[in-house]
Amino acid sequence: MTRSTRFWSPPRIEIDPSTGALQAPVDGFAQAVETLGDGGLVAVPTETVYGLAADACNGAAVAGIFAAKNRPSFNPLISHVPSLEVAQKHGCFNEQALALAKTFWPGPLTLVVPKRPDSPIADLVSAGLETIALRVPDAPLMRALSHALDRPLAAPSANRSGRVSPTSATHVREELDARIDLIADLGACTVGVESSVVFCVTGQPVTLLRPGGLSSKAIERLIGSSLLRAGADDQSPASPGMLTSHYAPSCPVRLNARSVQPGEALLAFGPDLPDGADQAVAMINLSEIGDDLEAAQALFAGLRALDQKHVSRIAVAPIPDQGLGEAINDRLRRAAAGR
Ligand code: TXA
Ligand code: MG
Repeated sequence: MTRSTRFWSPPRIEIDPSTGALQAPVDGFAQAVETLGDGGLVAVPTETVYGLAADACNGAAVAGIFAAKNRPSFNPLISHVPSLEVAQKHGCFNEQALALAKTFWPGPLTLVVPKRPDSPIADLVSAGLETIALRVPDAPLMRALSHALDRPLAAPSANRSGRVSPTSATHVREELDARIDLIADLGACTVGVESSVVFCVTGQPVTLLRPGGLSSKAIERLIGSSLLRAGADDQSPASPGMLTSHYAPSCPVRLNARSVQPGEALLAFGPDLPDGADQAVAMINLSEIGDDLEAAQALFAGLRALDQKHVSRIAVAPIPDQGLGEAINDRLRRAAAGR
């Protein structure tokens, strides 16, 4: 299933902030839309991570995403849309979902809502569930492509299944070269961890399926109550994608390291380094000033860079759970699990 992968560095993309329509012609844009229209696979950056996009209404194209990533087909995909108006054609928004969308879109928030029976989105996208995951990203290119195609874009992170998500076009190439048709390069992602996934279905508690780029505190302030966490009890909704071992580099990862052991590389956080940091085989500090936003942005690139040095293990310094720390620690626990 080898494909020849083209690269595209679009110039600045300007869109209408409410509809997502492209404002001025952009070199290469029409070809990207054509590739998607033909059922092709295009890596498109978002503010969180790079996504691997295909026409969400084209079942064969969506199947191509699963094949390129080796992704288990029970794990549903997020549909990216240019505006809330379009999102409402595909999903049923209750009062809370609407408030969340109006406040945090465009942005790093995915809403899981009941799928409208008349939505043309392919069944494979939601893996047979009656709900659908929708997001308006703060990423002009993704919104403009979806607007021009007049279809939602199904897009998981553009990495092979189970591996660290890509936050640059170079990462995408390392993962998916010769498996996809086009990689759009707009530089590094500004948020750096995937979107927060929130389940919003009438009659069930609002549930955080995945902590992510929007802090849980901000969501809880808006809904006026605390969020149920997925898997908190047997009744709580679950996200099929939250396999324990995930986001994994190829070498072992040791969390909450207060000292560095021989042969280890160090993923540090903040100004205070663990004992023996000067002995580390390699070191990357996610944020020397201990800032959660800066650390989220640097997380996946940091894991990838240390992994590529073929170290025996990566020791990770403790990171507080505040703000995006919750999402960072979630990804690090999965990186450390099960191998
Ligand atoms: O930031 C992001 O969310 C990135 C960018 C590209 O948008 N996308 C991303 O997609 O991280 P992916 O496929 O790696 O993660 C989507 C998550 C998975 O955990 C999946 O199980 C969950 O969303 N999901 C999708 N549809 C769902 C549904 N109907 N019910 C429950 N969980 C769902
Ligand atoms: Mg992913």
